[in-house]
Amino acid sequence: MEILKKSYIGNMELNNRIFLAPVTTEKDWKDFFSKKTKKFIEKRAEGGVGLVITGGYPVLLNENIDYIKVKEELKDLAKIVHNHNAKICLQITPGCQWINYKLDKNSVNEISEENIKILIDKLGKLSKIVKEAGIDAVEINGSGGNLLDQFHTKRWNNRRDGYGGSLENRMRFTQECINAVKNLCGEEYPLIFKFTPFHGDNLGTQLEEGQEIAKILEESKIDALHVDIGYSDMWYKSIDTVYQEEPGQVGIASKIKDKVSVPVLGQGKLSDPEAAEKILKEGKLDFIGMAHQLIADPDWVKKIRNNTPYDIVHCISCNDCLGALINEGEIKCSVNPLCYNENIIHNDKSYENKYVLVLGGGPGGITAALSASEKGAQVELWEKTNELGGNFLAAGNDFFKKDIRKYLNYLNRKLFRSKVKIKMLKEGNIENIDLDKYDKIIVATGSRPVKTDIKGRNNNVSSANEILTGDKKFGRKVAVIGGGLVGCEVAGFCGEKAEKVFIFEILDDILINESPGVNDEQALRKLLKDRNVEVFSSSKVVEVKEKEIVFEKDGEINTIEVDTVIGAEGYISNSELYEELGKSNKVVLIGDAIMPANVIHAIHQGYKEGRNL
Ligand SMILES: Cc1cc2nc3c(=O)[nH]c(=O)nc-3n(C[C@H](O)[C@H](O)[C@H](O)COP(=O)(O)O)c2cc1C
Ligand code: SF4
Repeated sequence: MEILKKSYIGNMELNNRIFLAPVTTEKDWKDFFSKKTKKFIEKRAEGGVGLVITGGYPVLLNENIDYIKVKEELKDLAKIVHNHNAKICLQITPGCQWINYKLDKNSVNEISEENIKILIDKLGKLSKIVKEAGIDAVEINGSGGNLLDQFHTKRWNNRRDGYGGSLENRMRFTQECINAVKNLCGEEYPLIFKFTPFHGDNLGTQLEEGQEIAKILEESKIDALHVDIGYSDMWYKSIDTVYQEEPGQVGIASKIKDKVSVPVLGQGKLSDPEAAEKILKEGKLDFIGMAHQLIADPDWVKKIRNNTPYDIVHCISCNDCLGALINEGEIKCSVNPLCYNENIIHNDKSYENKYVLVLGGGPGGITAALSASEKGAQVELWEKTNELGGNFLAAGNDFFKKDIRKYLNYLNRKLFRSKVKIKMLKEGNIENIDLDKYDKIIVATGSRPVKTDIKGRNNNVSSANEILTGDKKFGRKVAVIGGGLVGCEVAGFCGEKAEKVFIFEILDDILINESPGVNDEQALRKLLKDRNVEVFSSSKVVEVKEKEIVFEKDGEINTIEVDTVIGAEGYISNSELYEELGKSNKVVLIGDAIMPANVIHAIHQGYKEGRNL
């Protein structure tokens, strides 16, 4: 297999062609070497990647580097990774931090030559201790609108000195960074450069110039090029979302590969083993990087090696990892409750004599059943419908948000291979649940769509779930009531086939109370635009007729002819059964049945409750 072939970057031999793409795990860069980060990296090395590229270590003007301390930490990291026969490369971002970075359009023009020299000097010194600590390579990050990329980019770089003007001048800072590393670490020390040959819009760098940048970098004797696409305004192109079905970066990366002879590294939704193998076979890339997929499943390579690709836990592209990093200070993963929790010592009790009943076969219920079963308990899972998945069946299907369906398929496979007794078409109620029989009852009954009080709604409106699962068909002209996340998604879904889709939102704009995160929102808004979805904001739907929707905007009543009306006004918990079962320590509620929210809550609560009986 191409994926598993030994390969080289400079003189660095790698066991295979898969690398952990850089992942900043802590928002505060001073926690760069935290125990949790080390464990995170170790797990991925243990999982079989050939190379770990760390998250970006910033070299900043106003922050001193404690070189002695950093060297000790790096030695530790190198040892951890080498123990698993993998290699490690430190990513360094001159002038900025990866996560706290905002594109400041003036920093390129305001930084003095003296300060440029200071940054280069710090970068050189840091690289020297990186090498001395036993780290196998350095990657300089000059991508995605960060400081070096701003220097490269005509749009942002207006300097009139030797660092502005021609492409050679705009690349001067980068050249000096490369020279500093080469001078202090030696020509042989592997150096990778991450850059952006295409910013993803028509304002920034275009591919033709990107190819010139690649050639200049190759002439500067870097050992590999790491290609990235996008920047903050096009962030969904750098960090893909669930709305992008296909890998978006490999096309550009392969056009860079056409122009250079050094190895080219790329990433961006390259988690499908067959697709990854094909990309390598066709010579589009030399190394395949994964960030999300290895957050979700650190053992991706091991599972390929062991011929068990069906066991790979699919990333659902929810970007809650990024959301948690930005909002809570460290990463998390929806489908991998152990991610960034790897150091936690789990309860190692066995529960062979325990009986567990899980009510509800959505992702939270399935996870709870599996984790209790893995602890040895005798588990029953009751699902009232004839299909497992709960609201996840609507959240993703084979045509829209496919990543979710892949994960659900994985859960189903795992469940059917487990010892869990699955009872389909069985709804729990106070009469048929024998409370004495079970040691724990996990209520994972999910949520149902809210129906607002609109005239005519009962007869003429389908729910978003019914449309997304294909239970109900939609026509040529579709109206969606509610511009929250689900409303926008169902509008985008229908927009692929319908002639016209309208969203009616009572607030000033769509996605106000439910933004899915910056890159996801960019991608979703683009999808709506591409699919010709029209938004009526500050608009209240007052009546739904058989072929019309009536709404009030700016004090006026308007009517639009439509043939399908979809309600997406939110969800309400199905907590009635839990209430009926009465307050008892053995009955617990998880996921949407507590409060409708992102799936991360249901899965993590299910995992925890299933393991603690
Ligand atoms: C939580 C998170 C942290 C990231 N941190 C970095 C970083 O420090 N440096 C960097 O160059 N890219 C970083 N990236 C971008 C990834 O390396 C990768 O390019 C991107 O996620 C697309 O690849 P994927 O589809 O395999 O995830 C990060 C991405 C995520 C999701
Ligand atoms: S949090 Fe979501 S997007 Fe991030 S790795 Fe996990 S499943 Fe994938």
